[in-house]
Amino acid sequence: MPDFSLTDDQTSVRDLARKFARTEMAPRAAECDRKSLFPEDIYRKAWELGLMNLNVPTEYGGSGLSLLDQCLIVEELSYGCAGMTTSIIANCLALEPILLGGTPEQKTRFLKPFCASYNLASFGLTEPAGGSDAGALATRATRDGDHYVISGEKCFITNAPNASLFTVFATTDPALRTKGICAFVVPRSTEGVTPGKDEEKMGHRASSTGTVRFDSVRVPVADRLGAEGEGFSIAMRTLDQTRTPIGALANGIAQAAMEHAARYALQRKSFGKPIAEHQAIQIKLANMAQSIHAARLLTWHAAWKIDHGEPATLESSIAKTFASDSAMRVADEAIQVFGGYGYMKEYPVEKLLRDAKLTQIYEGSNEIQRTVIARELLRRYA
Ligand code: CAA
Repeated sequence: MPDFSLTDDQTSVRDLARKFARTEMAPRAAECDRKSLFPEDIYRKAWELGLMNLNVPTEYGGSGLSLLDQCLIVEELSYGCAGMTTSIIANCLALEPILLGGTPEQKTRFLKPFCASYNLASFGLTEPAGGSDAGALATRATRDGDHYVISGEKCFITNAPNASLFTVFATTDPALRTKGICAFVVPRSTEGVTPGKDEEKMGHRASSTGTVRFDSVRVPVADRLGAEGEGFSIAMRTLDQTRTPIGALANGIAQAAMEHAARYALQRKSFGKPIAEHQAIQIKLANMAQSIHAARLLTWHAAWKIDHGEPATLESSIAKTFASDSAMRVADEAIQVFGGYGYMKEYPVEKLLRDAKLTQIYEGSNEIQRTVIARELLRRYA
């Protein structure tokens, strides 16, 4: 039987994130959402508190936390503001390829200076003509002596307008599909790297998202992560790690939605009593609580497996899919509890629905997650 109790360290890191989310993030969430502001002071403070480069070992200047610890933090932060959380944890996504594919020399060279001060990084996989079919990416990496020349465009890249470092996936030969893909570390200052403007989004509006163009960008061979052709595997193994915290992020949104709905139901009256006393509302709240509880356990279990070095492609995709679908349902029902007020921007729940939607799309759409789950399942019974 697994032990569900948190250690003292886990409780203290969760409490730190909870306090930061409630005192720093939540009070600014509505304004950042409304005006699409990128609250750099909050991100800087998150870095100062050790809430940013969560997955990077302490020897390279990060927080060196387990995935379960990361999930505890991410759920708390997301309760405060999912958009800000997306920008904060995009560093984990962008730096994971260096952790998985980098040599000790590359880790020291890239991670130490990056983590030593406040910096943002971006994960450059998705392209305008290919998101789900990551093996079909078109950005080219052409070998030229001791360099590669990279040309192409990435899109929907979290933090791209503000990032100082990119991990970039490019192919040496599209005909090789997944076998031709390489992973590179590319500083923003490299000639030919052009991040685009911040996109106008439906939700997660406190985070920045944009394109990045690479025009004949010369990248030293020494900055390739892993062997030539190993990039796709690095990208997939990265996503195995980072999809689970997206489940935690979705759980934070759902928890906030349920709490808003419960508080509102206790004070709003109809037919002479608080609506919380109507069974129709109680059923909604009960369904929300069940859904959140199940999603949290799935998330913790996937994180626990990864922390124990066990393969968890299946569990990671299940956690991400279940938790994000749950967040959508819970946020939707929270709006229903609020009735007409829930539809108004003056109340917090409509933002939660818009924020929940992205969790079904990014880091691999839920349709792709179900493909991954089915493949893993069928492999076991073949
Ligand atoms: N771990 C290790 N290796 C893996 C793997 C994994 N999880 N998944 C696949 N591979 C390996 C396979 O074993 C295979 O290796 P061999 O050829 O040696 O057997 C190779 O990779 C190719 O695998 P597939 O044949 O399964 O590849 P595919 O083309 O059918 O695609 C896919 C698989 C799962 C659909 C993949 O394309 C995918 O995950 N797509 C979604 C991409 C995605 O999640 N994008 C999100 C970007 S990040 C984001 O949203 C960003 C943001 O800023 C917030």
